[in-house]
Amino acid sequence: MKIAIINGPNLNLLGKRETGIYGKESFEAFYEKLKASFDAVEFHYFQSNVEGELVNELQRVGFNFDGIVLNPAAYTHTSVAIGDAVAAIPAPVIEVHISNIFNREEFRKISLVSANAVGVISGLGLKGYELAIEYLIQHCTG
Ligand code: DQA
Repeated sequence: MKIAIINGPNLNLLGKRETGIYGKESFEAFYEKLKASFDAVEFHYFQSNVEGELVNELQRVGFNFDGIVLNPAAYTHTSVAIGDAVAAIPAPVIEVHISNIFNREEFRKISLVSANAVGVISGLGLKGYELAIEYLIQHCTG
C-alpha cells in the first residue's frame, strides 16, 4: 500500500515553531518512527511552503497512491486550488491538523479542503497522522 504525506507551509519548522501549539518534535523525527511502526506501507513524504507545488504534488500522487494524509497548514483556510486538487484526484485524502483549528482564531475555523476530504482529524497532535494512516490501511486498500 502506498501512502503519501503532504505537509503545507511552515510545517518544516515543527519542533522549533510555536512549540506550545505544535509540540517539540520535528516532523523528520516523527516520520522515522511512523515508517518503523507501519513497515508494510510504502511512504512518500512531501513538504512545501508554496501553494502551487502542493497542487502539483497532489496531482502527481493522487492518481497512483492508495491514500494521502494532507495537512495544508495555513492554505487550509485560503486555498481554492488545493481544495479543487483534492476534489480532482481519485486517492482518498484525510485532512490532518496538529492543533484544534476550531478552538483558535475565527479564520482557522474555515477549511476550503474539508468538503472534499474523506475526513478530518484536528487537535490530536502528531498522533493525528498515525490515526489517518490506520484509517487508510483499514478502509482504503485496493
Ligand atoms: C495547522 C493549523 C493551521 O491553521 C496553521 O496555519 C498551520 C498548522 C495545524 O496542523 O494545526 O500551519 O494546519
